[in-house]
Amino acid sequence: MTLVAPSLLAADFLHLDEACKLVNESEADWFHLDIMDGRFVPNISFGIPVIEYIKKAAKKPCDVHLMIEEPEKLTPAFGKAGADILIVHLETCRNLHSNIQQIRSLGMKPAVAINPHTPVESLKDILEDLYHVLIMTVNPGFGGQQFITHSIGKVKEMREMIRRTGKEILIEVDGGITLENAPALVEAGADVLVAGSTIFRSADPAKTIRSLKAIA
Ligand code: DX5
Ligand code: ZN
Repeated sequence: MTLVAPSLLAADFLHLDEACKLVNESEADWFHLDIMDGRFVPNISFGIPVIEYIKKAAKKPCDVHLMIEEPEKLTPAFGKAGADILIVHLETCRNLHSNIQQIRSLGMKPAVAINPHTPVESLKDILEDLYHVLIMTVNPGFGGQQFITHSIGKVKEMREMIRRTGKEILIEVDGGITLENAPALVEAGADVLVAGSTIFRSADPAKTIRSLKAIA
């Protein structure tokens, strides 16, 4: 079954309550929340107080994607704010294994994201400790970018690497996902589709979520 995680980055920030209601009442599986610090990525999105409010409204798990330097410093605060799944970028962690232990010890599910230039093999020695891996299909920092086709091959490689572990580790893909490129990603082995613009800029977001869910 394909999971769908709408990214609220593309929602109307003046009406986040409506976006939460839409996700709650739709067939979507998780809330995807993008946190940017203006250092690791050249953009700033929103922070902890906003997550706290979203958490109050959300009836589904919050998948929090940290695009920030030194994520370990704020990991406890994100846990307290309501993150159910916490994603850190491999590129920002000098002691990734201990970051993952920290996330787990605070009761969250750990995940690691890799940028388009980072090979999937770099996750080999951490894979079995993860709930999911996130393969970025655009450069992190902005919504509404063009999907990088090369990512499809990375998803296939990652699927094969996970198969060899014998464990159930999900593959999430994020950035530029559309109804047109999603089938190839699912076929390559993606389990979770993150989509911002495709959902929130569509005429009928609930219907778009349903169409993404139907891709299997
Ligand atoms: C990009 C973020 C994505 C983004 C996706 O840095 O991680 O989650 O919001 O937006 P779309 O689907 O518009 O590319
Ligand atoms: Zn994201």
